[in-house]
Amino acid sequence: MTGPRVPPGTEPPWWRSGVVYQVYPRSFADSSGDGVGDLEGIRSRLDHLSWLGVDVLWLSPIYRSPMADAGYDIADHCDIDPLFGDLPAFDRLLADVHDRGMRLMLDWVPNHTSDQHPWFRDSRASRSSPRRNWYLWRDGDPGTPPNNWLAQFTGGPAWTWDERTAQWYLHLFLPEQPDLNWAEPAVREAMHEVLRFWLRRGVDGFRADVVHLIGKDPDLPDHPPELVGTNVVHTHDLPVTHELLRGIRAVLDEFPGDRAMVGEVNLRSPALIAPYYGAGDELHLAFNFVPLSGPWDAGFWRSVVEETLAALGPGEAWPTWVLSNHDNPRHRTRYGGSEARARAAAVLLLTLPGTPFLYAGEELGLEDAVVPPDRQVDPGGRDGCRAPLPWTADAGHGWPPEPWLPFPPDAAARSAAAQREDPTSVLHLYRRLLAARRGSPALATGTWAAAPAPDGVLAYTRQTGDDRRIVAVNFTDAPVGLPLGEPATVGISSSARGEGGAWTGSLGPGEAVVLVPGGAGATG
Ligand code: GLC
Repeated sequence: MTGPRVPPGTEPPWWRSGVVYQVYPRSFADSSGDGVGDLEGIRSRLDHLSWLGVDVLWLSPIYRSPMADAGYDIADHCDIDPLFGDLPAFDRLLADVHDRGMRLMLDWVPNHTSDQHPWFRDSRASRSSPRRNWYLWRDGDPGTPPNNWLAQFTGGPAWTWDERTAQWYLHLFLPEQPDLNWAEPAVREAMHEVLRFWLRRGVDGFRADVVHLIGKDPDLPDHPPELVGTNVVHTHDLPVTHELLRGIRAVLDEFPGDRAMVGEVNLRSPALIAPYYGAGDELHLAFNFVPLSGPWDAGFWRSVVEETLAALGPGEAWPTWVLSNHDNPRHRTRYGGSEARARAAAVLLLTLPGTPFLYAGEELGLEDAVVPPDRQVDPGGRDGCRAPLPWTADAGHGWPPEPWLPFPPDAAARSAAAQREDPTSVLHLYRRLLAARRGSPALATGTWAAAPAPDGVLAYTRQTGDDRRIVAVNFTDAPVGLPLGEPATVGISSSARGEGGAWTGSLGPGEAVVLVPGGAGATG
């Protein structure tokens, strides 16, 4: 099976060839001393990101927000929350990112706003408000929600009764996050204007939050019996959303410079995600979250890659790969805390066919923090993966005393400063992988084909023209032989072993390698 192709002679767009790094602003770096990260903090650590070699930054929401859902509840889409800075600080950050040859994507949250947003305040004010129809209001009996949908995080009804106007409003997330009504033309126009506001400021694109939820059946029918009690967020998938996405794409296309959107389409199968790329006229990229709920297992990964390529390939849609983000336990934690697995997973993530998304701190091999009950903040229980990044090995780790969440385990040894000194560290492994992608069209955008491998090992070839790499990942905790039938040089080893030397034909326990065909010293 072969993977996506980039037509020969064409330069792939940045969102296909690049590596995206998700910054979680609250936890990246703090310049103001309040224990919460901010825009100037991010700017002060851009050296780390340039040195690492990432191409694109995506910032989780930085807009004005009451922070009921850590900023995914927006009260003003066109201003920065004072916790993070202000618009001039944003402009400085964007300019510095661009000066370093990197790009910046913002999080755009189209499905809902904060209940404190002026749009919702207006909508809620009276049944005759000009903005009443901007949200999803329904009649009913105060004791009986209009349908059987459940809200994410609370597990209760996805509806809240508004005493004053005696109607229900829909919220697929918290009651503080009312759903917008995208069937209302003024909503579409207002949300398009939000995109234009940031595109004019110079951002390169957006990560669109739960964008598959924006199209709603006007009847808001009950979930069928087999879906009762399941999460709407993972099943909601309506044709009307595609029309809306084409309208959104047209806004991006008004601007020069190849602006792009990656959608959080939180449906858990590549076949369900594929239609969200449209015929190249909807999302540029869509997240594929299947691996987030799968085991560390060679067979699982092979089938996910093959299924993904089979689903996306015919439409020439470009895959994405994610191991960690701000909503899920970090992959090192999910994979049992093993550093060897975290390292091998990095090799896998950065050599699969498609655009990889790194989550800040995975380059340090971080695990989730253990957050005691009295310090828990998130209504969704996701604090562990949102812990502050340890920059330095001293007790403060580059933060003021008591940052908003406790540090992840082993913060001193895993700090950026400590790992930078150690060429065998996880951090240096990520850096070598990013450099290898840059130096090899095969790794960045080449075809993918599975190669023969013993049980417990996933091996594959990436190729563009004469440029070829062979990747092998040992998912087991025992050494495994992998004869190749041709001479090869070890380009990268997850255990930093034997790089630059001839391939010996044997993978260490949990080891992953990138091999360059040719005798010792071949560089491809
Ligand atoms: C997305 C975000 C998550 C947020 C939710 C509601 O899934 O990634 O953090 O809570 O949408 O906006």
